[in-house]
Formats: sequence, structure tokens, C-alpha cells
Amino acid sequence: MQKELTKKNERVEEVFHLFIKHIQGFLDEAKLNHEEYTNFVNWADRLGRSGEFPLYADVFLETHVLKAMYTEKPGTQPSLLGPYFIEGSPLIEAEPGKPLVLTQRPDEAGEVLYFKGNVSNVDGKKLANTRVEMWHNDASQKYSAFDSDAPRYNFRGHFYTDENGDFEVKSIVPLPYSIPTDGPTGEFLEYTDQHPMRPAHLHLMFEAEGHETLITQVFFEGDEYLETDVADGVRLDLLTKLIDKGSHKEASLNFVMRTV
Ligand code: BEZ
Ligand code: FE
Repeated sequence: MQKELTKKNERVEEVFHLFIKHIQGFLDEAKLNHEEYTNFVNWADRLGRSGEFPLYADVFLETHVLKAMYTEKPGTQPSLLGPYFIEGSPLIEAEPGKPLVLTQRPDEAGEVLYFKGNVSNVDGKKLANTRVEMWHNDASQKYSAFDSDAPRYNFRGHFYTDENGDFEVKSIVPLPYSIPTDGPTGEFLEYTDQHPMRPAHLHLMFEAEGHETLITQVFFEGDEYLETDVADGVRLDLLTKLIDKGSHKEASLNFVMRTV
């Protein structure tokens, strides 16, 4: 007799039961009446139809997953991947005697930034040839490929650390920005009287063989939104100083990856 095909998945079953149990606990605790319940269902329906569910989840939930997984572990703290990562960024190669330059237009507005980093692991080994992916917003506070006139991969690229685990890349200083406020996520922020701003940040993703991929962000001391980041992505070990060098700014941070 042919074996019956089953879709049963024990992990889904376990997580689903917990999800329903806690949603029911939430309904009890919040004492939602039927009208409020219906309003909530309608709002969730608008959220799904607007295509903003990834944004909403990354603003209000992603940081909790990361804190639960990593706060107690050694190594650089991960931060939000967020909704603005895209695959396929160009490889940035060093020209002899010149720094790596993150993809940008010739007349790009913004303050020039030289960002230096070093990548090692929790055992102190320098990680040569680590793949580093970097992306951030431009002087109009937009991410390329998202509601922006810039080319698809503007301020997006990947490169590799040198034999000492070091890298240096020329770009511009990213700016604080508002998450979209004209959809159901913004509606929710208005109801709770919360501003929609994220502090300025660089996004970085590190991949090295034998190590956990590290997805994180770098923030700058003195940014007015560090303590009230709408997406709660700031961690103390991800803060660096922007040093004013007259014609440009410099910043640096060291990154520590976990072994698998
Ligand atoms: C971001 O890092 O760009 C981001 C993260 C979470 C929500 C929205 C944006
Ligand atoms: Fe971002």
C-alpha cells in the first residue's frame, strides 16, 4: 500500500499552539470588545493588502527575535536586516593605492565618509577574506530600489576583508530617516503617538566560512534618535564616533563573529 503523504510538521504545530495561546492571552488581558476585535481584524487586513507586513514586522518584532537569540552571547550583537536589503549587489574591488568606493553616482550629494572595520572571531582570530555586504540610505534619506530615483544598487555593494581582517570603504554619511507613514504602519504609530524615525545607520552583513552570518548595523554617537529608534535596533556595541576631518568624516568599528 502506498504510504499516505502527510504535511504534519512538529515545529509548526508547537509554534502555532504557542502563538494561539499567547494571542488568546493577549485578548483576555486587553479585554477587547467585539467592535475593537473587528477594528483590529480590518486593520490587519489593510496591513496585508498594502504590502507593509514586512515593514510592520521589522519595526515591531524583528528586534525581539534578535535580543532573545543573542543578548547573552559573546560576539558583536546583530541588528535588524530590515525591509530594505536586496540581493545581487555589485562586487567592489580595490584599485591599487585607492580605498574601496561604495557604488554611487559621480555627483552624489552628502558628506564623504571613510569607514574602517576589522573582522575577527570570538577566539581572537583575524578573519581574512570575509565577505562584507554594505548598504545604506542616500542624502535624500532614501534606499535605492525603494521609492527612489537612484540606480538600483546605489550605496549597495560587497567586498572582502584583507589578510588582517581589515577593510576600508569610502561612502557618504547616512542620515536618520522616517519609515513610511502613509500606510497602516504609520496609522498605528499615530494612534500610539510615536515618532517614525530611525537614527542614521550603516547596514553590514558578514559571511565567513565556519562562522554564523552576522547581520548588523552601525550607529553614530550624538544622533538624536538613538534612544527612541522606532525599530529599537540600537545596541551599545554598535555605536561609533563620527570624526570630523574637515573635508570628510571618518568612523570605525571592529566586528566579532561567532563560530558555528
Ligand atoms: C532599516 O534598518 O532600514 C529598517 C529596519 C526596520 C524597519 C524599517 C527600517
Ligand atoms: Fe536601514
